[in-house]
This record gives sequence, structure tokens and C-alpha cells, in this order.
Amino acid sequence: MSRIPQSFIDDLVARADIVEVIGSRVPLKKKGKEYTACCPVHHEKSPSFFVSPDKQFYHCFGCGAHGNVLGFLMAFERLDFVEAVETLAGQMGLTVPREGGEAPHAHPHASLLAVLEDCARFYQAELKRTPRAIDYLKRRGVSGETAAAFGLGYAPPGFDTLERALRLDRQGIDQLKRAGMLSEGQHGRLYDRFRERIMFPIRDRRGRVIAFGGRVLGDEKPKYLNSPETPLFHKGHELYGLYEARKALRRPERLLVVEGYMDVVMLAQHGLREAVATLGTAVTREQVDLMFRHTAQVVFCFDGDEAGRRAAWRALEATLPQLRDGLDARFLFLPEGEDPDSLVRAEGAEAFRTRIKHQALGFDAFLLEELARQAKDDGTPAARARLKTLALPLIQRMPTGVLKDLVLDKLAARVGVSVNRLLPEKGHSAPETPLPLVSSIESGRTTALRKAIVLLLHYPELAARRAPDPAWAQSPVPGLPLLALLIDQLRSRPSPMGVILEHFRASPHARTLEAISRLPPPRESEDIEIRERMWLDMLEHIAATHNRARLRQLTERPFAELQPLERQELLRLTTTQSNRE
Ligand code: CTP
Ligand code: MN
Repeated sequence: MSRIPQSFIDDLVARADIVEVIGSRVPLKKKGKEYTACCPVHHEKSPSFFVSPDKQFYHCFGCGAHGNVLGFLMAFERLDFVEAVETLAGQMGLTVPREGGEAPHAHPHASLLAVLEDCARFYQAELKRTPRAIDYLKRRGVSGETAAAFGLGYAPPGFDTLERALRLDRQGIDQLKRAGMLSEGQHGRLYDRFRERIMFPIRDRRGRVIAFGGRVLGDEKPKYLNSPETPLFHKGHELYGLYEARKALRRPERLLVVEGYMDVVMLAQHGLREAVATLGTAVTREQVDLMFRHTAQVVFCFDGDEAGRRAAWRALEATLPQLRDGLDARFLFLPEGEDPDSLVRAEGAEAFRTRIKHQALGFDAFLLEELARQAKDDGTPAARARLKTLALPLIQRMPTGVLKDLVLDKLAARVGVSVNRLLPEKGHSAPETPLPLVSSIESGRTTALRKAIVLLLHYPELAARRAPDPAWAQSPVPGLPLLALLIDQLRSRPSPMGVILEHFRASPHARTLEAISRLPPPRESEDIEIRERMWLDMLEHIAATHNRARLRQLTERPFAELQPLERQELLRLTTTQSNRE
């Protein structure tokens, strides 16, 4: 697969001006050395969004959104990483190079995409000349315009129609097979998978056809047939209608998740263009993640029956771990025997919107209601204890934030205790072993390492003051290998915080750096002399910590087992001053 060279990304971010990029999308006001605006990510009335040209970094004190120029494009335009790089490069008049010599946008399965595109075009043409298929769609109320917008088609009868219509040679037939368009019968005989069906092309986020769903015109079984999993199509990762919804709405305020192809198509025709469908499976985490890249609110729409409730519950489980502050998930249950297609046709778009507005349950209400049912909550202390036991582990899976605290409050109110009683006691049992750096940051514990990395990120020029000890790269002290890497990188290429974060985006340290970049530097560090002294003191202290940890590590092993180099190290460590504090 072709990759964008890291050196290009480093250069791109180093050359881009974050003030210009953000300023062209959000009106910025200069304030001292920084620029400010009302936060475009969480929408607010008074400005708590700051952009620092020195650090090439933005930060919102309201919602905690922060990052460099690429992070901003990803959050604001809801792009994925590669799209953000392409957008930024485009704005700067640069072409994105690819490693491996392929054409800029070459897709690893370009030939499969091409053959699927041909199939889609063929099916559309067949629909136009098949009155029986046109009648079927008309009977279901699908307009010609809608059929065109979704690229609907018709697969004619016959077992080798595609091969003949597309004039394929052996290689072409092989591609057709790999694209999931052929089934294999006895003796390996290949034949058209889709016959006499209305065809729904499934498109990826860029509008390329990657698979199909096909519906019979009558009551034959199976009613729907989908493409199998192929190199292009993993049904748990795709959503039918997402491309069309984004095309119509760009940045949809919400996405409405329904079950069927026809539901999506008919909702769109009635003006509810934000509908998407899972592809005959339970909602997956990947699908939830995909939706939250494009919208802040997801409304799940299910049948009101037992099966619908079960499906909704699975959707909730896939959603909870991703519900960061600012995001929302709701659940709408439809009257029995109705689906969105039948409802919107019967009562119209406005009534359907009203349902969403007034009848959809907040995820927290659905969570507690469903668990109360499972716990047979009759208000007795035993039932409340059961409710707590069921609910806590689920809520704990939510990301830390205000939303999670609110749900905990609601659970506490329902169980009838204070939130403090709800949560396991904190503080008394601080573990002896060093916490991994990220969790120690998240729990607010300060460590010398964390402080040093914060200082370095904000004042990268400090790296020049002292070279890291080569042994730090393998240090048992959590965070020290990362600090050493950072110092090395900054010594070879001094760069502001936004640029250095970019460099580490794909590294295992990305999450740690990300968490640390959010922390403000210590106040005293504004004075350059104090700052340098602090820095050198910190390194001194860290060096001593490393030496002690390493000494402990080496002395715990039998001397006979140590390698010659390790013996030398041990000798050195036992004779230095620094470990005897
Ligand atoms: N589905 C499927 N395979 C089946 C049945 C259903 O993949 N054998 C998927 C399809 O995506 C379908 C959705 O589940 O759109 C919902 O199925 P169902 O409720 O049975 O059909 P409807 O969408 O109501 O279809 P229609 O209105 O066309 O009868
Ligand atoms: Mn239906």
C-alpha cells in the first residue's frame, strides 16, 4: 500500500501556519501573543478557544479540544488523517507524495473498484429497460430522482450476464469473483450471484461502489442478498447511505441509524437525509466510530419488539466507550409492525421528526430503564443493589468526562445513595508500583517525568541544554524512554509542540504525549532563567531516579547471569554519587 512519507508530513506541519489555517475557517481575534475565538468544536458564547502561533497548537479551555493544525482539520472538517494531510497540502499548493511509487490516489484494489463500478452502471441501465423492476419501485413509492441518487439498479435473470455484458476475459472474471459478484456452484462452476433483484450499491465514504445488496421483486427467499466479505467490503465497517447523507448534508447534525436499505432510501426521499443502515448485522464499534467522525449525535431507530430492544442494547454497548463529552446517542423505538419506511410514508417527514424529538430516549434513560428491568427493580434495597452492580461496570466504560459524571449522578439518585458511596473508595490504596504514565496523568498524579515532558513540549529549545543519557532509552522508569526520544528528536530538529506531536502521531507514545500536551506548563517557567534551572534540576533528579531503578533491577538478578556490559553498568552505578540520596 502506498504511504505518505513521514518526512513530508513533518515538513508540511512545520511549514503550515496554524493561525492562517484556523483563521480561514473561524474568525480569530488577537489577544497578546495568542489568538482567540468561540470554540468551533463545542459551540459556546464566550471565547475559550486559543490558538498559539509559537506553539503551532490550539486549545479550548471549555471542552478540552486541542491539537495541531492537522488535528484541527480532523476535528473541524471531520476528516480522517490522510484527508486532513491532503486538505492542508492542497491549501499550501503541494502535492502529497506516496512511498512505493504508486500514483497519488492509487487504491490497492483499484481493479476491483473498477469492475464494481462497471457492474453498478450495468445494473442501472438494466433497470431503465425493465418495466417490471420500474413498476416494483414505483409501487413502493421510490421516485426516479431517488433511484438515481442512490444508484439503484436491476440485476436481470441469467447466470453469466455480467461476464457477457462487461465482455470479460479470464482475468476479468477472476476480478468479478474477488469482488464478490459471482457464486461458485458444484464442480467450481461460477455464476452470477445476483439475479432478478433490485440492486442497492453500497458505497464507501468517497462514493466508490464496494458491494451490493439485492432485493427480490416478489416473495422469493431470501428477500435480501448481500455481497460477501471481500478485500473491499467488511460489512461491520460500513454503513449504507453514509456517503449519500454526507453528500447531501456535508456536516449532518445527527445521523439516524435504521435497519434496512429501503428505510434509508425512503427517509431520504422524504427529506430525512441523515439516515444510514447497518448491513443486516448488529451495530459494531467501528460503525459507531465512523458515525461520530461525521456527526455529534446518533439516533438509533429500532422496532419496539423484544428483538428490537435486544438490538438497541447491543448498539448501546458499542456506543458507551465512545461517548466523549459533546457527543450524544439516543434511542427511538417504533410502534410494533412499523419500520421507518412504512412510517414515513404513512405519517410524513414532520411527524417522523417529531417522534425523534419527543420520543427518542437519551442513552442514559435507556440504559437505566433497561437495567432496572433486568434487575427487576421494585425499589427494594436488594433490587437497587442489583441495579448498581449491573450499571456501574457499563458506565465505567465511558470516557472520563462530564457526561459520565452526569450518568453516575443519575444512577446514584436512582439507587438512592450519594455518588461517593457509589464508587469504590479512592486514595487509600494507591499502588506501590509506578502507574503507567497515561493513567497517572489521567488520575492527576504528578510525576517528575510528566513535569519534564510538559516543560519540554512548551519550551522545546530546552532540549539543546543537555543530551540524554543513552541508557535512558531502555530505562525501567515509566516515561523516561519517551523523554529521551523527545530530547533526541528536538536536538536534531527543534520544532514547536504542534509539530513534535505530529512526528509522534503513529508511535506507541502518541496517547501519552497527547494527554501531556493538554497540561499547562508550571507558572514559574515563564522566566527564562528559572526555566532553564528547573529543567536541569529535573534532569538531574530524573537521572538519579533512573540510576536507582536500574540498580534495583540489576541487583535483583543473580550476578552470574549478568552480561559483561551489565556488570560494568552495575559497577558504575554502585560507585556513582547520584543514587545515594
Ligand atoms: N437483511 C439482509 N438479509 C435478509 C434480510 C434482511 O441482509 N435476508 C437486511 C437488509 O439490509 C434489510 C434489513 O436487513 O434491508 C431489514 O430487513 P427486513 O426488515 O426484513 O426488510 P425491510 O428492510 O423492511 O425490507 P422491505 O421493506 O424491502 O421488505
Ligand atoms: Mn420494510
